[in-house]
Amino acid sequence: MDQGAPGGVIPLLIVGLGQMGSAMAKGIVGAYPQAKGSIFGHDQDPLRVAEAEAFGLEGVKKIEEVLSRVRAILLALKPLQVIPWLRLYREVLGKDVMLISIAAGVPIEALREALGEKAHVARVMPNLAVALGACPVGVLCEPGFPEEKKGALIEALSSVGMTIELEEGQLDALTALSSSGIAFVWHALEGFAAAGIRLGLPAALSRKVAVETFLGAGMLAKEDEAASLASLKERVTTPKGTTMEGLFVLERLGLKGILIEAITSAYYRAQAMIPPQKGV
Ligand SMILES: NC(=O)c1ccc[n+]([C@@H]2O[C@H](COP(=O)([O-])OP(=O)(O)OC[C@H]3O[C@@H](n4cnc5c(N)ncnc54)[C@H](OP(=O)(O)O)[C@@H]3O)[C@@H](O)[C@H]2O)c1
Repeated sequence: MDQGAPGGVIPLLIVGLGQMGSAMAKGIVGAYPQAKGSIFGHDQDPLRVAEAEAFGLEGVKKIEEVLSRVRAILLALKPLQVIPWLRLYREVLGKDVMLISIAAGVPIEALREALGEKAHVARVMPNLAVALGACPVGVLCEPGFPEEKKGALIEALSSVGMTIELEEGQLDALTALSSSGIAFVWHALEGFAAAGIRLGLPAALSRKVAVETFLGAGMLAKEDEAASLASLKERVTTPKGTTMEGLFVLERLGLKGILIEAITSAYYRAQAMIPPQKGV
């Protein structure tokens, strides 16, 4: 992925260093420590820039300072801030720069509409665990996105997560399942930890046990990818046993249906986030 920058990384500007922008920055700086000096970050809040500088990002006060040096801009603004930002800055953006949006629910068509003829547009969907290099990363490049740039983008993202090329609707599904889904997992973890406390375990220990249980369950499922999730459950279920008893309650109360409904609702929210942008 030699794009002419130190360490082989694409010279990159991250705009918006909130939750997700700084998580992406941590993941990228962690994966490319040799590329310090070519990964820039900007936020309207100088405190956030200072925090990002502490873990190796090159902070910039005005994006104009680095626009001629970067080949990719990662927009990590709230969904409703994205289109106004693009409209404001499109005149100073290069034709050949990659504009990568991580905004939930802002379709490629709306990004392209706001940019006019400028830039090559892609959407990327991570979750917060990207800071640890431990999340699925969905990618969608607009039609006509140059192949060598797409290859470089996918290679760079692969260093911070399991990169998957998706279509627009699928990207919204990934938003619901994974970007929002990480919160649903934490919600379930809260329930596990509370149950441990109810049964007499100290709170801190209960939290640790819950987290280790989720980690172990995920690792086993990942290691044995060919096994169905149902067959994994069967391995720990005996007739009239403790697991069977608990699974019966989960089925009776409809946990699986609740999860499907929650994730489907998040998906529809992503689809309704930004109305069609024509003429906006
Ligand atoms: N959080 C997640 O788990 C997650 C997962 C996947 C995708 N995403 C997507 O990531 C994007 C960012 O989400 P977030 O949770 O990171 O939001 P956030 O924490 O609010 O971060 C956005 C940052 O951008 C700053 N900002 C706003 N306007 C700016 C401008 N014109 N120039 C420079 N900086 C500006 C904000 O400053 P102020 O606070 O002062 O406004 C804030 O620091 C969203 O589009 C979201 O859909 C988030």
